[in-house]
Amino acid sequence: MAARGLTATLLIFALLASSASAQLSERFYNSTCPSGPAKVAEVVRTWITRDRTLAPALLRLHFHDCFVRGCDGSVLLDTVNGEKVAAGNINSLRGFEVIDDVKTKLEALCPGRMSCADILSLAARDAMVQMAGPILNWTVPLGRRDGVSSFASEANSALPPPFANFQQLVSLFSAKGFTTREMVVLSGSHTVGLSHCRNFQTRLYNFSATVATDPALEASFAAALKRQCKFGDTTTLVKMDQSKSVDTWDFSYYSNVLRGKVLFQSDDALKRTTEGSKIVQALNRAGSSFSAEFSAAMTKLSRVGVLTGTSGQIRRKCNLVN
Ligand code: HEM
Repeated sequence: MAARGLTATLLIFALLASSASAQLSERFYNSTCPSGPAKVAEVVRTWITRDRTLAPALLRLHFHDCFVRGCDGSVLLDTVNGEKVAAGNINSLRGFEVIDDVKTKLEALCPGRMSCADILSLAARDAMVQMAGPILNWTVPLGRRDGVSSFASEANSALPPPFANFQQLVSLFSAKGFTTREMVVLSGSHTVGLSHCRNFQTRLYNFSATVATDPALEASFAAALKRQCKFGDTTTLVKMDQSKSVDTWDFSYYSNVLRGKVLFQSDDALKRTTEGSKIVQALNRAGSSFSAEFSAAMTKLSRVGVLTGTSGQIRRKCNLVN
């Protein structure tokens, strides 16, 4: 009986969540701030022209927002013990200054209209399209509202850590409505961006009591990483995809996974089950559908747990509740 009650409650929550996401629309600002979305693109373009590395940073910021309390801008809030100080976010997330700049300009254009959650969702897409070119593009439905709470503890349990195994990844993504294939596709974003040495120090120097270096790392790759990240170095930033000199958008991530040339155990884990390995190999084939699948998965990500209608608020400043 209690189990049936719980199932019914979960069903109601699922229905409410999907009806909120159904209220999003690409035309949401057509009457209230028609030039808003173009303004976001313009401001983001200026930042990315100056520093391309901000594009992956904004993509990750959006992911970390959506996985914790839904895409409600909660990752942007400066609250005590908020998401910003969670293990996976502190001294790691970048790009807040871009969102703040966009917000200031949007408030001048249409005060109190565009939510920080929408700005973040648009900025992630616009930045990545600017960086990657026409190979990448996804639809961003709009009308999200901003949350008023942010908890580090929730981020700590919802965000995947770099040492996660396949089952852990599957279950963290499935908790947000994603299939295993979508999880593997979204992980392909590690074809761009930067990581701190601390995320793979253990793999290089302290793997186990008997083996110093993770044997899953290809030998020359491990040696190259050790040159960039000395023992104990936690702060140096290295390129996520070491196989190319310029960060470009492609599906090279999957060949890196297969060759043992990825930074995190969570990346390596994708090929460690029959199911995962089949997906990685499929995405690694010539003519891979990776970018199209990635785009579809990003639109889906942007709908996770959104607040619409009269829920939440439109923050005046993205780091503060009104
Ligand atoms: C599958 C589980 C995932 C794990 C365990 C993971 C973990 C990490 C870690 C540890 C970093 C390095 C952060 C730092 O050192 O500051 C990172 C970077 C990054 N991640 Fe993930 N991530 C995952 C999935 C995703 C997804 C789904 C996306 C996007 C949709 C994403 C996008 C990125 C990007 C773009 C970067 C580079 C950020 C930058 O350059 O600042 N990751 N990830």
